Amino acid sequence: MKRDIAIAIDGPAAAGKSTVAKIVAKHLSYVYIDTGAMYRALTLKAIQHQLNVDNETEIVELLNHTSIQFKQNGEQQLVYLDDADVTHEIRSQEVTHHVSDVSKHKEVREEMVQRQQQLARSRGVVMDGRDIGTHVIPDAEVKVFLIASVDERAKRRHKENVEKGYPSNLEELKKEIQRRDQIDSQREVSPLIKAEDAIEIDTTSYTINEVAERILEIVSSKI
Ligand code: CDP
Ligand code: CDP
Repeated sequence: MKRDIAIAIDGPAAAGKSTVAKIVAKHLSYVYIDTGAMYRALTLKAIQHQLNVDNETEIVELLNHTSIQFKQNGEQQLVYLDDADVTHEIRSQEVTHHVSDVSKHKEVREEMVQRQQQLARSRGVVMDGRDIGTHVIPDAEVKVFLIASVDERAKRRHKENVEKGYPSNLEELKKEIQRRDQIDSQREVSPLIKAEDAIEIDTTSYTINEVAERILEIVSSKI
């Protein structure tokens, strides 16, 4: 009989983590958890409260009074910040610009990791982020680290923005992605890094389905 496992998908911005994670989760009838959405929701609230994102004490205090939940609406996963649906708002340029600064604080990460571990306590989960394989689910049966060239990642995000009717400038987007990758990779606490036992997949010239299939093959070999 097949057993339920945990699948950790990490990597830099716009590498295709969430798109592929959703396909893999759907295929296996697993739960998908987007940890980036949790950091984005907290960042949105910090902006709403006009907090200084560098002030760790204030940001942690805010998080301690904040509920972040995922709700399924048919195919779509909605993100709730306290009682409000913020699924779209958390993708704004302003949130994207500040999220890495909010996410670098030690106590913020400790609390988020605890909440994420709670969400992943039963197996049958696909979780994507930056530190899933290294800190959130270090004993995940499958760990994947997705990468792609920064030009390709910027192009993909740009295309996505244009399709959704969001304002988007390719060069600005590339700079923002590089800036975010740098903060995420260089922070002291649980930086973006490939877990030793993660399988790296360079998706630069792969389609979404090819990447999903590759992960499903890895999963099959484990269950
Ligand atoms: O989708 P995109 O790559 O733009 O970003 P995301 O996955 O929504 O994550 C937004 C930000 O949250 C990242 O740039 C990190 O600063 C932070 N993050 C993190 O620190 N740890 C995670 N496990 C997930 C996200
Ligand atoms: O979650 P993450 O930030 O890593 O990336 P994403 O939001 O899943 O993917 C960013 C964009 O790249 C989306 O529009 C995907 O459809 C697209 N993509 C692609 O074109 N080819 C891939 N192999 C993976 C993602």
